[in-house]
Amino acid sequence: MGYTSIKVSVITLGYFFMLFVTFTSILNPIFASKICEFPAIFNLGDSNSDTGTLSAAFTPPKSPNGDTYFHMPSGRFSDGRLIIDFVAKSFNLPFLSAYLDSLGTSYTHGANFASARATIRFPSPIIPANGGYSPFYLDVQYQQFMQFKERSQIIRKQGGKFAKLMPKEEYFREALYTFDIGHNDIGAGIFSNMSIEEVKASVPDIVDTFSIYVKNIYESGGRSFWIHSTGPIGCLAYVLTAFPSAEKDSAGCAKEYNEVSRYFNYKLKEAVSQLRKDLPLAALTFVDLYPVKYSLFAEPKKYGFELPLIVCCGYGGKYNFSDDAPCGETIAVNNTKMVVGSCDNPSVRVNWDGSHYTDAANKFVFDRISTGEFSDPPIPLSMACRRNA
Ligand SMILES: *[C@@H]1O[C@H](CO)[C@@H](O)[C@H](O)[C@H]1NC(C)=O
Ligand SMILES: *[C@@H]1O[C@H](CO)[C@@H](O)[C@H](O)[C@H]1NC(C)=O
Ligand SMILES: *[C@@H]1O[C@H](CO)[C@@H](O)[C@H](O)[C@H]1NC(C)=O
Repeated sequence: MGYTSIKVSVITLGYFFMLFVTFTSILNPIFASKICEFPAIFNLGDSNSDTGTLSAAFTPPKSPNGDTYFHMPSGRFSDGRLIIDFVAKSFNLPFLSAYLDSLGTSYTHGANFASARATIRFPSPIIPANGGYSPFYLDVQYQQFMQFKERSQIIRKQGGKFAKLMPKEEYFREALYTFDIGHNDIGAGIFSNMSIEEVKASVPDIVDTFSIYVKNIYESGGRSFWIHSTGPIGCLAYVLTAFPSAEKDSAGCAKEYNEVSRYFNYKLKEAVSQLRKDLPLAALTFVDLYPVKYSLFAEPKKYGFELPLIVCCGYGGKYNFSDDAPCGETIAVNNTKMVVGSCDNPSVRVNWDGSHYTDAANKFVFDRISTGEFSDPPIPLSMACRRNA
């Protein structure tokens, strides 16, 4: 092929590309839009997105938590980053500081209200009771957010060294509001004496309660919402260990517990559709994490993972997990003290500590959900400010 024909084909290609862009822009305004520039993120949720709340309020998770990425405990229940960390990074924003963390924190680009063990509904029992849930359940997280919204602006107006650690007033309208909560409401149900049918029957009320808080934040001025579904709870070692006789699927996950997760997600998706009708100025994206997380259990090798059901940092039993031997704690085995440490290569593992995912698994999930392939509407994270009703 001579020089001229190369030039011609480049021009032709360019022409077709322009035609393509023009057509897709007309047909779908999403492609015409620029990517969103969120100056801040405000997050509400449970341990799947807690970057330091429970740690600051009660006891920090111990090493090897944090070892892979932070090289020390970071307030997260993982060896490294959580999905919310990858979300923040994708917008070139710093990792979110927990609102309750009073040490070395900056809220210039958002704040994190998520707490490990948090539920949507009022929980029972509450930490420090044995097996307790977080006192910072969704209603409290929302109250904290409202207090933060008001007091951060008072501090900005006062000036001085704390002012620049606070978000600008307009950031509350321009921010991305992210949610990852509901997992522990399902957990609370299945670990009570409720039947699976009873747990399922509780889902509509859980989801209705969730919707109230999205509406409240909308009323306070929030416009862009990125809402995660819940993962396959029946694939996690803490559930598999507690219910050893549960019927398993081909991935080795407990079928009926996963059914509850999927039912929750179905109702949540429905609720988000309704919110899209009720909140005319909101861009609401429902993001279904379930199929992505489940693929790690169903086809681990395909994605470079191994032993997805087995806990990396745990001890005992079929799944290397026991309630008496939490990751990072010192336990006595045969009268010898031993620290529950990490497996050799957490970068190929899925389950970190029995109920949480590894840095590698969280990155895998983020990479897939950020494209929009698992979202309703199917828009990528970078365009989550666009309303596409
Ligand atoms: C479930 O029932 C058993 C036996 O009745 C009881 O010992 C246990 O405390 C109950 N568990 C919960 C979470 O209510
Ligand atoms: C503890 O003792 C049992 C029985 O002697 C043995 O099978 C097991 O390997 C020991 N565990 C450790 C961690 O040494
Ligand atoms: C089980 O957990 C221990 C830490 O207590 C770790 O050393 C070991 O590698 C884990 N086993 C597997 C198969 O990951």
